[in-house]
Amino acid sequence: MDECRAALEFRHACKIFDTSRKIEDEDLLYILEATRLSPSSFGMEPWRFLVIENQQIKKELQPLCWNQKQITTCSHLVVIKNQTGLVQDDEYIWKMFKRRGLDEEATKAYIQKYKSFLKLQDIDCWTSKQCYIAMETMLLAAAFKKIDSCPIEGFEREKVEEYLGLDSSKERVAIIVALGYRLKEAPKKNRLPLEELVEFR
Ligand SMILES: Cc1cc2nc3c(=O)[nH]c(=O)nc-3n(C[C@H](O)[C@H](O)[C@H](O)COP(=O)(O)O)c2cc1C
Repeated sequence: MDECRAALEFRHACKIFDTSRKIEDEDLLYILEATRLSPSSFGMEPWRFLVIENQQIKKELQPLCWNQKQITTCSHLVVIKNQTGLVQDDEYIWKMFKRRGLDEEATKAYIQKYKSFLKLQDIDCWTSKQCYIAMETMLLAAAFKKIDSCPIEGFEREKVEEYLGLDSSKERVAIIVALGYRLKEAPKKNRLPLEELVEFR
């Protein structure tokens, strides 16, 4: 089996992690570096990552996350925060577009295009979508290193944001990823067959 397929098969939504095993710093960095390479609309990278290793913080977060066991058994929790503020911030917009190396006039025109696109978006939803792309990169990069994961959408968003002290007018919690090592074997994968999913024209 090729490495990509092997990682895809290895990954599953791990429900309980082995608390005796910690992810090495080097592996954690590999996962975060890989995640950084994720694509984003207009290249705005509207994500920031809060990595939580502190057990007390995990314990306090657990009741806000449907009491899911992944929260306290994982090695690291990564809170992916969607940046509703930065994507509307002129200084940040300029920085992100300027690095493309276009001349000033072309950069300004591109930014105009971006701003008219942005007007049509629900910004929380749009930035969250990109965070889900980063999430998938994270899951796959972890799987490459034989590190297990669980994406977690089951949490009380406002309460988690308040607990973490986020200014939710500027950034919100899009999704949480638990990373660690499985305690039990992965269950059988259930997936619809290609014939049900794909049509060719
Ligand atoms: C966006 C997203 C949110 C999810 N939230 C949770 C969650 O809160 N708790 C959980 O146990 N699994 C969660 N899952 C895992 C899914 O239930 C799981 O991926 C799906 O059932 C397929 O199983 P597999 O990933 O093991 O192949 C989530 C998955 C995704 C993609």
